[in-house]
Amino acid sequence: MEKIRTVELFAGVGGFRLGLEQASERFQTVWANQWEPSTEDQWAFRCYAKHFGESHNHVCKDIAAIDKDKIPDHDLLVGGFPCQDYSIAKKGAKGIEGKKGVLWWQIDEILDKKRPLYVLLENVDRLIRSPAKQKGRDLSIILRCFYEKGYAAEWRVINAADYGQAQRRRRTFLLAYHNDTEIFKQFAEETCRYGVKRMHTHVMTDGVLAKAFPVSGHGRSYLDNWIDEFSYEDMASLSREQSVYFYNAGAMMNGRIYSVDVVPEIEHCIPIRDILQDGEIDSRYFIKEEDLPRWRYMKGAKNELRHRKDGSTYCFSEGVVAFPEPLDRPSRTMLTSESNVSRTSHVVVDPQTKKLRTLTPVECERLNGFPDGWTEGMPERMRYFTMGNALVVPLVSAIGKIINDIT
Ligand SMILES: C[S@@+](CC[C@H](N)C(=O)[O-])C[C@H]1O[C@@H](n2cnc3c(N)ncnc32)[C@H](O)[C@@H]1O
Repeated sequence: MEKIRTVELFAGVGGFRLGLEQASERFQTVWANQWEPSTEDQWAFRCYAKHFGESHNHVCKDIAAIDKDKIPDHDLLVGGFPCQDYSIAKKGAKGIEGKKGVLWWQIDEILDKKRPLYVLLENVDRLIRSPAKQKGRDLSIILRCFYEKGYAAEWRVINAADYGQAQRRRRTFLLAYHNDTEIFKQFAEETCRYGVKRMHTHVMTDGVLAKAFPVSGHGRSYLDNWIDEFSYEDMASLSREQSVYFYNAGAMMNGRIYSVDVVPEIEHCIPIRDILQDGEIDSRYFIKEEDLPRWRYMKGAKNELRHRKDGSTYCFSEGVVAFPEPLDRPSRTMLTSESNVSRTSHVVVDPQTKKLRTLTPVECERLNGFPDGWTEGMPERMRYFTMGNALVVPLVSAIGKIINDIT
């Protein structure tokens, strides 16, 4: 059985690799790259090496400093590229032009040099609406790059909780396949014959993501457009002019894009209660009586006058966050700041003691579908940080199984 040679970019603690290896032993990681710019200690890199072995093909270096010609040939390129700049909630978010967003062009360079048959990317849900002032521009540029290199693509915004996971984590998965692949050839031939109807069935049932994550219906509005007809002279002008409203699912074939909002076929929901650790939980996770007012304030609704450094005032308001978390629902999204005493950190009623406590690192690993203790050995703060960065492993396995079937 032929191997599927895989390269993993922005590898973190190895969520893609773990998910693909769980899907099939055909996936063989031939090169991986991980480098955390914000810290000197490279904890994620060390965690990956601990689980998958030290190797000269696991490189801890800024991807921008890597000679792309030296990356081994591969069939599948995967990566969850850093997403901070895709936050449309953030004032002044610059999208693909932002400092971290620029990392897209590192992937693009690898496509140029290596032409892998398949590319599987993961990013925040806002990618499809990024940047705030020119919604859809960034995904348009990404799709355009794939088109110019001979790829078709499909994307879906997946909420992990809809597909049997205990976390409401919404991420955009984008899969591209080169015109040498069977799936491309069949999709191209049938789209040529049946037009947009075939693109619709690709998004609803026939595409890889539709097979991995079945849908039960779709919205009324849709987008049917041509990525090769946008007026542009070069990427810079496309970048200035392009603005498109993308829905949560879509496909691109031969420059045509079709997109529609799909409704997931919900598997049974896993409540957060199901991932809580049994037995005695260390006292440091429990909230002290004297800290309760602070937690209540942070989680509460606010409408208050605040002072800027220059002495001027402004009205600050924000809504309420559930405190504690309802145990009978999947959790909210876990962030890199989970270990902080913050509004977004999860607080639960411990089922044994009935007292309030934060989540343990193991529970955070469980929310992402990693084996218990995956990040053991790091400072605890980094265990939470790396899990806030990581993806939900079983989602990758689901996609990997379909890629394995069609390859
Ligand atoms: C969204 S996380 C992906 C996490 C990964 N999928 C996992 O399962 O752990 C992005 C990763 O890219 C890494 N990173 C950020 N900038 C980088 C760069 N310039 N070169 C290489 N890696 C980088 C970060 O340290 C982070 O681990």
